[in-house]
Amino acid sequence: MPSSSATPAHPLPSYLDPQHLGPWGVYLQQIDRVTPYLGSLARWVETLKRPKRALIVDVPIEMDNGTIAHFEGYRVQHNTSRGPGKGGVRFHQDVTLSEVMALSAWMSIKNAAVNVPYGGAKGGIRVDPKKLSRGELERLTRRYTSEIGIIIGPTKDIPAPDVNTNGQVMAWMMDTYSMNVGETSTGVVTGKPIDLGGSLGRMEATGRGVFTVGVEAAKHTGMRIEGARVAVQGFGNVGGTAGRLFAEAGARVVAVQDHTGSVFNDGGLDVPALLAHVQETGGVAGFSGADKLADDEFWGVACDILIPAALEGQITEANAGRIRAKMVIEGANGPTTPEADDILQSNGVLVLPDVIANAGGVTVSYFEWVQDFTSFFWTEDEINDRLVRIMQNAFAGVWQVAQEHQVSLRTATFIVACKRILHAREMRGLYP
Ligand SMILES: NC(=O)c1ccc[n+]([C@@H]2O[C@H](COP(=O)([O-])OP(=O)(O)OC[C@H]3O[C@@H](n4cnc5c(N)ncnc54)[C@H](O)[C@@H]3O)[C@@H](O)[C@H]2O)c1
Repeated sequence: MPSSSATPAHPLPSYLDPQHLGPWGVYLQQIDRVTPYLGSLARWVETLKRPKRALIVDVPIEMDNGTIAHFEGYRVQHNTSRGPGKGGVRFHQDVTLSEVMALSAWMSIKNAAVNVPYGGAKGGIRVDPKKLSRGELERLTRRYTSEIGIIIGPTKDIPAPDVNTNGQVMAWMMDTYSMNVGETSTGVVTGKPIDLGGSLGRMEATGRGVFTVGVEAAKHTGMRIEGARVAVQGFGNVGGTAGRLFAEAGARVVAVQDHTGSVFNDGGLDVPALLAHVQETGGVAGFSGADKLADDEFWGVACDILIPAALEGQITEANAGRIRAKMVIEGANGPTTPEADDILQSNGVLVLPDVIANAGGVTVSYFEWVQDFTSFFWTEDEINDRLVRIMQNAFAGVWQVAQEHQVSLRTATFIVACKRILHAREMRGLYP
């Protein structure tokens, strides 16, 4: 019998550059932080340090001018111990394998944290979709879907929207997959338009989840939402909805930043008017009901709640010390680096981590998938009630673990989630 020394720990796969680990490196540090709390399940922790499956595809399309362009596409399934893979598809010019790997792993953690029966997956294409015509975008989406079609499916891996993808992109993905398998397969993606098996409440679900955990944390810390000052980075699906719900609850959204600039109004921005301005012009810049703010000044704005809801790696060593918020609610995935996390913690800033704070989207995606299987659709109130209940319960569990072990909410969420994933792994056993 070979001894166990024949299988030394290999924390890094050979296809990643150890000097430039990117977001995957951040995720590995988070796993290292949680390992001491996993008890006997720590024996299985290596399984979390490598993705189960990573598919890299070439996506060629004919451009409108007759040339042929090639794009790099990915689909990574990090872990499927608890169920099929689940996670969004991102179209962005900076997408890398490391990023998609990290995002897929955070999906494993998130799905386990809110206890929906999924593993974690993510996909992406390295492209700036704003430079494509609608026809080019459709051809790109369809070819990518066909290329990853060998590993996705309603019981295998279910994509959803992420940055720069939306209901229309999901409709094209659903149609392409359906054409390839020869039947209408609505359950292959979530975040679809309502008329194609989408769910009521899905569009707003992530922002609603961000708002729900914010309210729950405020109860624990004695913060009043009414009158609280809120700053939001990213005013798209997540940031826009969260900002609106906080404003409706009586908070004052004083600063908003997006890719076009930053705006500020000490008395509180008119959120519906700002949302309409973004809808019309594509960004917050030029909004008349506010002063312009230098982008770097955004981080130092006097506020109670800061919601990063754009991209990862936004709160770093360089700006974490200037943050004056009492609470950071991570709407985006991976917006805070581990170094910045430490600075925020030592400054007494409570961080509600992405892996619980933005789990509302995948929770309603789960509802959408269930509805598609049964072809029986729920009312918006039923969806929102169930969403809020799941988010409240999940947050209460994480809060309790944080108190018990005296750890951050991020580590507590990882403790809850990693235990669920590794317990499932242990019960299933290793095949063969
Ligand atoms: N949509 C969901 O259901 C969902 C679920 C979970 C997590 N997330 C995460 O939330 C984040 C936002 O996703 P979304 O769906 O709202 O995307 P979106 O495309 O609707 O909005 C993105 C926003 O970020 C802004 N932005 C982009 N680059 C920026 C920059 N350099 N500086 C400042 N702002 C910038 C854009 O202007 C836009 O307002 C992402 O990290 C995504 O992974 C989304």
